[in-house]
Amino acid sequence: MSNKKNGIVLWLFGLSGSGKSTLAQQLDEVLTAEGHMVKRLDGDALRAGINSDLGFSDEDRLENIRRAAEIAKLFSESGIITICSFITPANKLRETARHIIGPDLFCDIFLDCLIETCVSRDPKGLYKKALNGEIKNFTGIGAGFERPEQSFLTVCTDQQGVEETASIIISHTTKRYPLLRVF
Ligand code: ADX
Repeated sequence: MSNKKNGIVLWLFGLSGSGKSTLAQQLDEVLTAEGHMVKRLDGDALRAGINSDLGFSDEDRLENIRRAAEIAKLFSESGIITICSFITPANKLRETARHIIGPDLFCDIFLDCLIETCVSRDPKGLYKKALNGEIKNFTGIGAGFERPEQSFLTVCTDQQGVEETASIIISHTTKRYPLLRVF
């Protein structure tokens, strides 16, 4: 048996504008500074490349998450802490990712943020377009977002800053996984 341990997968999910990418970057910086190997996988980045054939129907979102989870699993198996940021708007999608990655490594972290706050931030101008009817099935406007019944952790990104949120995540996670790697 190899003594190489799998990196945990921090799966950040929540509405567009809830702060997933910013938080992923902060977590990456802190964990890298602590000496960990870290890889980030982001919805927009994957959709610009490997997932560029996919749109936002339920079926395509499922395939998007399936591929992302399979890629995350490969990094995890190399001992890399993998930080995924995808809206992942339905329980079924989150369960698919959990199943692929494995429940012992999968940490689903809900970025709970009022839609009004996301709309007012609108970092990419997409809510404006969705509200004008230019994007039909935008999550939170024309398409649904299922709040989780339970998750590894919920953080309120409209109530605290990114550094504080990242440190809450790291301290919660290291309580369960002292090395951030298992097996
Ligand atoms: S997911 O629903 O399949 O998990 P993912 O995280 O990969 O979504 O991609 C979301 C990103 O795609 C958003 O941050 C936004 O930039 C862009 N986007 C474009 N159209 C949509 C849409 N209809 N709904 C949500 N996000 C969209």
